[in-house]
Amino acid sequence: MPKLLVAPSILTADFARLGEQIREAEAAGVDWIHLDVMDGRFVPNLTFGPLVVEAIRKVTALPLDVHLMIVEPERYLADFARAGADWITVHHEATPHAHRAVQQIKELGKKAGLAINPGTPLEALLPLLPELDLALLMSVNPGFGGQKYIPASTERIRRLSGLRQQLNPACLIQVDGGIKPENVAEVYRAGADVVVAGSALFNNRPVAENMEKLMGEVYA
Ligand code: DX5
Ligand code: ZN
Repeated sequence: MPKLLVAPSILTADFARLGEQIREAEAAGVDWIHLDVMDGRFVPNLTFGPLVVEAIRKVTALPLDVHLMIVEPERYLADFARAGADWITVHHEATPHAHRAVQQIKELGKKAGLAINPGTPLEALLPLLPELDLALLMSVNPGFGGQKYIPASTERIRRLSGLRQQLNPACLIQVDGGIKPENVAEVYRAGADVVVAGSALFNNRPVAENMEKLMGEVYA
């Protein structure tokens, strides 16, 4: 089985010392940095935009994985690309023009992802699967860090993993929400290539310690 990639979500990091927290994550051996962009419309919460992505670009060489939880994502793709995003993921539920958005991301020279919420049938991903670099399965309802993993997500990962094998083996499967030492091995074995982890990595303990605990479960 391929190595599991870990993308820490900075949502639960200490924003007053964000640069430091990102460097700490990098030193702990994480693979990407996951940036949750929320608009207060597609999801009830507000976070940050391209300006913060640009600032983070300056403190790390790790791939920046931008998860857009915003309506009309097409309007902002160029801004996030310019800010230094490497991966840009839009939500199926947030636009009637997901296909166009995916094409735009690729034209901008970035890796394109499509996300679905826990209540959206997997079939929504299929028409675009051959075009995608990444398929993101939400394992909580998007909007907030620190929520509980929805157990039915595991079966969805397994099914998507099978479909991906047929339709686009190069497409990565990312799982986001409630990933903890207790469930990470199950998620990995079901077929996830990349896990997003926020509160499991950024809490009151050192990131390196949390990372060791998480990875210890994966390869136990
Ligand atoms: C939820 C975000 C996630 C989340 C992850 O809307 O997309 O990235 O913050 O945080 P945890 O790991 O705490 O669920
Ligand atoms: Zn996310």
